[in-house]
Amino acid sequence: MTNFHILTLFPEMVLRGLGESIIGRAGAAGHISIEALNIRDYTLDKHKKVDDYPYGGGAGMLMQAQPVYDAYLEAERRILERKEKEGRPDKKRNRVIYVTPQGTTFHQQMAKDFAEEEDLIFLCGHYEGIDERVLEAIVTDQVSIGDYVLTGGELPAMVMVDAIARMVPGVLTNQASGETESFYDNLLEYPQYTRPEIWQDRAVPPVLLSGDHAKVDAWRLQMAKQRTRERRPDLYALYEQAHPAEEKKKKLRNR
Ligand code: ADE
Repeated sequence: MTNFHILTLFPEMVLRGLGESIIGRAGAAGHISIEALNIRDYTLDKHKKVDDYPYGGGAGMLMQAQPVYDAYLEAERRILERKEKEGRPDKKRNRVIYVTPQGTTFHQQMAKDFAEEEDLIFLCGHYEGIDERVLEAIVTDQVSIGDYVLTGGELPAMVMVDAIARMVPGVLTNQASGETESFYDNLLEYPQYTRPEIWQDRAVPPVLLSGDHAKVDAWRLQMAKQRTRERRPDLYALYEQAHPAEEKKKKLRNR
């Protein structure tokens, strides 16, 4: 069970996006919970303002520290309240993930690690960023979803919540499928086919119809390796490092 707490200026966007399909059902089934706190609700400004000009000048506006910090405190308060209700209060530091292009790039192993946490707080930025002091005060992890810039942190947070949630036990009905697909063991997924056997003159690879499971497994591994070598040489190098014996055997055979 992982509880996601998302600090955002656009709570409806996040909740609507994560309320459908597998993640929506996982919430209904109690494998995960997702709540969004509207940072604007926590501003002390009488005009509900949450942003201001950057000291030193420059383009754009920055989110101010106060509303972000108070929204964060409310998330922490709710977590502690839930734990107290369940009779197991603890003062464990929760991970607070600031989604930003300045962060380390998100990947599958991170999704697995975050899925072990009971509570995760996401902070979504807007405008040109957030006052650095509140980031120093509350953030434990700064994470990017790739080397491109989006208009806000909501889509990256949704991407990460989706990837993390599907690694939480119970969320995928076929739990094995989280282990066998792309990026497991640093290999991309093999090609897959369903009915009909022939579509627009293209036949399904005959080995898949053979009923020989060992042969099917060997073919799939071979295809996964070939794909990874061609499309993602960086991943393939990692795979080879982890399977040196196999590579040595191949080199001996090719001599
Ligand atoms: N906010 C804006 N762009 C982003 C990105 N690529 N990753 C994470 N957060 C972002």
